[in-house]
Amino acid sequence: MELDLAESNIKISDDINTWEEVNLLYNAALKQITTKIEILNEEFQEVHRYNPIEHVKARVKAPESIVKKLKRNGYESTIGNMVRYVNDIAGIRIICSFTSDIYRIAEMISNQKDIQVHTVKDYIMNPKNSGYRSYHMIVSLPVYLSDRIVNVKVEIQIRTVAMDFWASLEHKIQYKFEGKAPSHINSELTQCAQMVADLDARMLSLNEEIQAVGEKKED
Ligand code: GTP
Ligand code: MG
Repeated sequence: MELDLAESNIKISDDINTWEEVNLLYNAALKQITTKIEILNEEFQEVHRYNPIEHVKARVKAPESIVKKLKRNGYESTIGNMVRYVNDIAGIRIICSFTSDIYRIAEMISNQKDIQVHTVKDYIMNPKNSGYRSYHMIVSLPVYLSDRIVNVKVEIQIRTVAMDFWASLEHKIQYKFEGKAPSHINSELTQCAQMVADLDARMLSLNEEIQAVGEKKED
């Protein structure tokens, strides 16, 4: 059955008015995206005979972190400003095995008709100075309420297990030193990031080789 939006009372809006609504809507958006990703992973398993996704983590940003971010960027703490300026209220992190999976997953997500991609930052092609690598997307998707449809933004970070290992430790270190880690630690981290990139490349080429053997066996 097709829903005729023009004929119904259901309106598409970006209207979010209370903290309770923020919580409800961003949690709903995360549930929907998580389910979509699970389905894509299962389909991928059928087609390519391995699970590209190791695991998925989703979280709604803590209210005090949202307020801190608004303040840092010079905005008043209002619901309107949260929704407009904080792109990572809802965040999902997809951890996969190989770098090639990242691009496949990103493409599968972009191809979903109800998901709109707003921005993409490819920190794999262009790593940050710190050495940080990951693929970031800001998307939005419709959440259906009883009387309206609300477009909700979600930040998606896609990275390999190795990239995640590096990012977790780097985050812990920067937190401990409040972003001012001694230079020998920063330089060690940058070198580790290069080792992670090399490891990812070697693991990918190993996997490609064994996949090819698998295909030959089936011929
Ligand atoms: P934020 O204000 O931090 O959200 O950054 P942004 O709006 O410039 O977006 P960006 O895509 O650069 O980063 C968003 C998120 O990616 C951060 O909140 C972190 O979770 C992660 N991230 C970005 N850079 C780094 C980094 O150098 N190290 C680690 N560990 N994580 C990073
Ligand atoms: Mg963030």
